[in-house]
Amino acid sequence: MTELLIRHKVGDYETFKKIFLEDEERRRSTGSKRARVLLNADDPKDIWVVLEYDNAEQARQHGWYECATLKEPYRLEGKKTMGYEVAEQMGWKLPDAVLYPTGGGTGLVGMWKAFDEMETMGFIGPGRPRMYAVQMEGCAPIVKAFAEGREDAPLWENARTLAHGLRVPKAIGDFLMLRALRQSHGAGVTVSDPEAVQGVKDAAACEGLFMAPEGGACVAALRHLKASGHLSPDDSIVLFNTGTGLKYVENMAPLW
Ligand SMILES: Cc1ncc(COP(=O)(O)O)c(C=O)c1O
Repeated sequence: MTELLIRHKVGDYETFKKIFLEDEERRRSTGSKRARVLLNADDPKDIWVVLEYDNAEQARQHGWYECATLKEPYRLEGKKTMGYEVAEQMGWKLPDAVLYPTGGGTGLVGMWKAFDEMETMGFIGPGRPRMYAVQMEGCAPIVKAFAEGREDAPLWENARTLAHGLRVPKAIGDFLMLRALRQSHGAGVTVSDPEAVQGVKDAAACEGLFMAPEGGACVAALRHLKASGHLSPDDSIVLFNTGTGLKYVENMAPLW
């Protein structure tokens, strides 16, 4: 099941009560399955309500086209181009390792497809990078399934992380990701929210880039993978940053 999160800022508790507690009809009319409340510890008048929607159900109800990850073919084809870009930018020699912040798996599975296509077209040889799926401690179904030797990844209960792009408790393409990790002799690795934010800070200090926490997670994962011996100083390694930190200023602020 996939969820669509919509955040409504309700400002203060009185407004919150009016909309979400006293006016049951109005709350239900939003069609949301579940509502969670976020409180701003620094400002008691700053209340956010997160409405969670089951988008498969919404699509059925409204006749919408469901474009969740891997439910439609185009996102995979689009993200596949990351594989082409890496090869082109590295002079058609793939790196030894790729660290990718993994949610629904389009990037990982797309790049894996791109490598095969490029080999068929004669752009590259049979060598492949080791693919590392980076996930958050609060939502790491693929890393867990990989460690347990499973071919699918069961639903991760109570998924929580500030890196929203990685909050994917159940991925349709779980088996494809796990296959790519194993075929490439890669692995899965988790990092905590504070580690991801530290990764964002490190990238800002060293590279002048303000990354999303998903990218920061890869910076943090690099340390773990070096310490565990998966990566060596001689390896050529590509870390993917998949977003800008500007979208996450509020999320990251408490840990900054
Ligand atoms: C910022 C960001 N990073 C990473 C991902 C993970 O995507 P995927 O594993 O589908 O490539 C997402 C997904 O929405 C995202 O928004």
